[in-house]
Amino acid sequence: MEIQPVIAWNERWSVGIQLLDEEHRQMVERINLLFAAAWARHVVSNRTFELLEEELKRHMVHESEILNKLGYSDVASHQKGLEALSEQLSAMKDKVLKMCRGGNQMLNKEAETFLRQWIVDCLEGNDGQYAAWLLGHDSVDLNKSDQAKA
Ligand SMILES: [Fe+2]
Repeated sequence: MEIQPVIAWNERWSVGIQLLDEEHRQMVERINLLFAAAWARHVVSNRTFELLEEELKRHMVHESEILNKLGYSDVASHQKGLEALSEQLSAMKDKVLKMCRGGNQMLNKEAETFLRQWIVDCLEGNDGQYAAWLLGHDSVDLNKSDQAKA
């Protein structure tokens, strides 16, 4: 049986800034890798989850830098939202890993629900606010965001 990705990338999550879109896609992919292992009853390693945590930490820095450069006025509350999401992720780590290691389909589903909700909160909840701001400000120079890649 072919395993479907838990989360399919949705183009409406694209914010139009290449680095941030790549990082968002990478986190979605990381969650899919974690559950591909769980559903295939392979060992789900701590490392997979840690990579997601590390990717989020790097992303938090990049996103804040870029939003500052673009002149977004609400970087502080966006950052606060990211910190809360980061804490949530770490808090669910043990529970999710334990669920995924049981080989129990119901627990796999429950763990999936946690992480799916979490990534949607990231991409639509927290990031949705600056994404809407970007859409409403055609004059924002997205090229300025390139400087943050260096
Ligand atoms: Fe983000």
